[in-house]
Amino acid sequence: MPPDTVIIGTQFGDEGKGRVVDMLAYAEESMVVRYSGGPNAGHTVVVGDQTFKFHNIPSGAASGRHSLIGGGCIVDPGKMAEELAALAEANITPSVSLSSRAHVIMPYHRLQDRVEEAWRRGDSEDAVIGTTGRGIGPCYADKAARTGFRIGDLLLSRDPAPLIRRMVAFKRRLFEQAYGVEVAAEDPALDADAVLSQIARWRELFAPILVDDVTAIQQARAEGKRLIFEGAQGFGLDIEYGRYPYVSSSVNSVGGAVANGAHHPLSIGVNKSYASAVGSGAFPSELFDEVADRIVERGNEYGTTTGRRRRVGWLDLPLLRRAATVNGLDGLVITSIDVLASFDQIGLCVAYDLDGERHETAPVIADDWERATPVIEMLPGWEDGDWDAVADGGWDALPGTVISYFERITELTGLEIVMCTFGPERTMFAARGPLAHLSAIR
Ligand code: IMP
Repeated sequence: MPPDTVIIGTQFGDEGKGRVVDMLAYAEESMVVRYSGGPNAGHTVVVGDQTFKFHNIPSGAASGRHSLIGGGCIVDPGKMAEELAALAEANITPSVSLSSRAHVIMPYHRLQDRVEEAWRRGDSEDAVIGTTGRGIGPCYADKAARTGFRIGDLLLSRDPAPLIRRMVAFKRRLFEQAYGVEVAAEDPALDADAVLSQIARWRELFAPILVDDVTAIQQARAEGKRLIFEGAQGFGLDIEYGRYPYVSSSVNSVGGAVANGAHHPLSIGVNKSYASAVGSGAFPSELFDEVADRIVERGNEYGTTTGRRRRVGWLDLPLLRRAATVNGLDGLVITSIDVLASFDQIGLCVAYDLDGERHETAPVIADDWERATPVIEMLPGWEDGDWDAVADGGWDALPGTVISYFERITELTGLEIVMCTFGPERTMFAARGPLAHLSAIR
């Protein structure tokens, strides 16, 4: 039985997890299970001249394999219908099923996300999380408060109308009386009839793909398929271990995968060759000068979901060390090494300095995050080379300074680098160790 594989982002999202999942799915008989998050994610997969941008749909869909939106995910059925329509226009009909346990982002959750951000702002712009505005926090909050709607219950129960009417009336009181926000009587997010007619439409579209995820995973296992668990967001945004409160609301670490069906998994971390983040919160290794502009331009660092310019910095080892420990990482993928090409020197954030004290791992306390300054080590950079030839030649064809950069990361974290990528296209990579089998997809 092939081991389950979990792909975990080790920074603040956007590490390139989607393309790693796509490669793994493409390489062998498998099923991809997305285990956390919702349409806040933006996973980009490039195959030949086609670019796929996935939000709710797992990245495994680009490979044509069957995939499952797992029970730890939340779904916005309206957005998912748009996503499927966009894929259909490109002649792609993903084979996907949806766990009945997944919670639904209701129209009022998106409104609540905006209202809560405004409330957090108070007098200080710093207090804003900078959410994607997709209703993620309020939906997970309702799940935990047991006032949410699981998609199976919403679409398959006899008559959701009485509960929907009560919930919509409650949310209106919450907005108007607690948050002091006027919501127009005809706003469809708080109009029970409008919400009910959307639910009827969702039922038509999605009831046929609802499954019991436990049975679906068990069946894939019985068929000898490899199970690939696709994380969303990243470790730094994990609700348990991330940079709270500047986090998302899902369990993005390996625990989220195990809670949603992964058995004794091989845990693979994914980090870009530099760091990036969208939204607010401390980012000790952040760059602000023309080096940042160059990385943003070369790496096209704009959010897939919101289009916001991403903040960039040097690769952050304190955060990576914590991710390695919590997730028991068995290996690390470093993506986008081509983006850093042609810099004379590359920085590595090897530790944080807190009031003169050196810290090897990312802190827990929010104030410590704010005070942390980076300890940077500079290493020789690499030239922009013939990356096609490197892909053909495999690991040994990588430039010597790239290998030295990786060796330094291994020396400082104990993590083996098992793959690196140097272009968005599926074939632009070198792999070894537990991912050596991927070389066959070249
Ligand atoms: P939320 O997930 O929309 O609640 O946003 C919470 C924080 O996570 C914000 O800083 C977002 O920018 C960030 N975030 C959420 N999803 C992603 C992602 O897929 N990539 C990068 N940042 C994300």
